[in-house]
Amino acid sequence: MQLLSVISFLLVAVELLTGCEAAPSRAGHGLLPLQRIAHIRRQEDQSAASYTPKWVECPAGPITRSVKNAPVLSELESTWLKARLAAAVPAWRDYLTRNAVEGLDIEQVVAAVQAEGGPSVGIALSGGGYRAMLNGAAHLAALDTRSSPLPTAGILQLSTYLAGLSGGSWLLGSMYNTNFSDWTTLRNEVWKLDQSLVNPFDGVFDKVSGYNGLDNDVDGKEDAGWNTTIVDF
Ligand SMILES: *[C@@H]1O[C@H](CO)[C@@H](O)[C@H](O)[C@H]1NC(C)=O
Ligand SMILES: *[C@@H]1O[C@H](CO)[C@@H](O)[C@H](O)[C@H]1NC(C)=O
Repeated sequence: MQLLSVISFLLVAVELLTGCEAAPSRAGHGLLPLQRIAHIRRQEDQSAASYTPKWVECPAGPITRSVKNAPVLSELESTWLKARLAAAVPAWRDYLTRNAVEGLDIEQVVAAVQAEGGPSVGIALSGGGYRAMLNGAAHLAALDTRSSPLPTAGILQLSTYLAGLSGGSWLLGSMYNTNFSDWTTLRNEVWKLDQSLVNPFDGVFDKVSGYNGLDNDVDGKEDAGWNTTIVDF
């Protein structure tokens, strides 16, 4: 696939001739985070970051809860919940202490959280493309002790579930792929929101190596026997 090399060359040429960058694409911008993540993961771990599809073993049982038998959690989810609770309980205590409500017995709440079937917090990030990603990020930033001075800070830390749909899943995927980065890290190091999707790499050398990198990634998939299309880019 030499298509990207050609595009890269044309963009460099346009930039050199006109002295300006191609305008950002609103519609396509959502792809940029994924491309950035691929880049970051490539730097961290060569094998895990490869774009080339791999065959993996499917889990023997359900990985969350059984659809037919809704209240029964899978073994994997039950095991995970115990580990999560151990991390969430100190966060509950911290949150309740900071937001001291008169007459509230904090230890009573913590005991309820620890009890079988006790309350747990789940956060859902809506769909809605690029706007949902950013709106969700701002929402999470307000709930995150790492970025928020507000009384709402800590709700992210004490929560048990975090789910995202569509644009919300871009945010969730960005966090998941970067060791649950906070908003500032996503904005400054992962998303590069000031850069254009059409012309995302700064400078001639970054452009050539950037587009060649994408080209090589897709070639890897093709070499492994899968069909590729423009969508792969
Ligand atoms: C992920 O983040 C946690 C908490 O900040 C840190 O302790 C851990 O070392 C990080 N893991 C990796 C692989 O960077
Ligand atoms: C690739 O595309 C061809 C033609 O459409 C099709 O026959 C073939 O099954 C596809 N291969 C894979 C691995 O999907």
